[in-house]
Amino acid sequence: LRLRIRRSDGARSWEQSFEVPERPGMTVLDALFYVQENLDPTLAFRYSCHWAVCGSCAMLINGVPRLACNTPLAKAGDAPRLAPFPGYDGEVGDDEIVLSPLPSMAVIKDLVVDQTPFFRKYRAVRPVFGPDGDAPTDERRMDRAQVGSLERYTNCILCAACYAACPVVARSPDYLGPAALAKLYRFAIDPREGRGTERLTSADLPSGWGGCQFYTNCRKVCPKGVPPDEGIARARAGLRGRRE
Ligand code: SF4
Ligand code: FES
Repeated sequence: LRLRIRRSDGARSWEQSFEVPERPGMTVLDALFYVQENLDPTLAFRYSCHWAVCGSCAMLINGVPRLACNTPLAKAGDAPRLAPFPGYDGEVGDDEIVLSPLPSMAVIKDLVVDQTPFFRKYRAVRPVFGPDGDAPTDERRMDRAQVGSLERYTNCILCAACYAACPVVARSPDYLGPAALAKLYRFAIDPREGRGTERLTSADLPSGWGGCQFYTNCRKVCPKGVPPDEGIARARAGLRGRRE
C-alpha cells in the first residue's frame, strides 16, 4: 500500500510517498510508525493513547479529518460525504492513502499542527463547572433524562476534527467553532450549573451560536458521536424562546 504524505518543515511543503506492507488490522497510525521506524525517522506526527481517547492523532485521511489510531487502513476509504472545506478535494487512488495535516491551523512539521487557536477558543467558553450556592452534603443528583442529554456532549476528546472540517472556521477565524460551542452548550444545560443562562447569552454573537451555517461536517467527522450542530440549534432555539 502507498502512503502519500503531505510534509512540511515549516518553511516549505512537499508530498512524499512511502510503500508500506499492509498487515490485517493495521491502522493508519501503525502505518505511520512503520514509515518512521523503517523508512524515514524524520517523519513527524502526534499520538499518545493509540485508543481514540487522547484526541491527539487527528489528521486528514483521504481529505477527511479522522483519528489515525482509530482508522484501519482497510477502511480509510469509508468516509462520510462532507461540505467543501480546505483540504477536502484530494484525488485518491484505490491503492493509496493520502495523509495531510488538519486545516485551519498552522503546520509545525509534517502532520503536526499548532492547536493554539482551537484551545484558545475552548478556554474562552470557560469549560469549568460553576455551581450556585454552598456545596450540598449529599451528591448533586440528576435524573436519567438529564444525564442523557448532557452525555452526548461530554464525550468530546478535543481532537479538533470538527474544527478542521468546519467551512465557517476556515473563512471566519473568530468563529468559536463546533467543539467549543458544544462544550458551552453542555454547561449551559447542566442542571447543576449556576450560570446556565449567562453561558447561553454569552455566545449570542455572529462568532458564537449565530455563526453556524449547519453544514453538519462537525457531527459527521466526530469520532465520539458528539453533535455540535444539534447543540447550536438548541441553543439558538433557547435564545429565541427567551426573546419571545
Ligand atoms: S466534538 Fe468530536 S470531533 Fe469535535 S473535538 Fe470533540 S471529539 Fe473531536
Ligand atoms: S492516539 Fe490518542 S486518540 Fe489517537
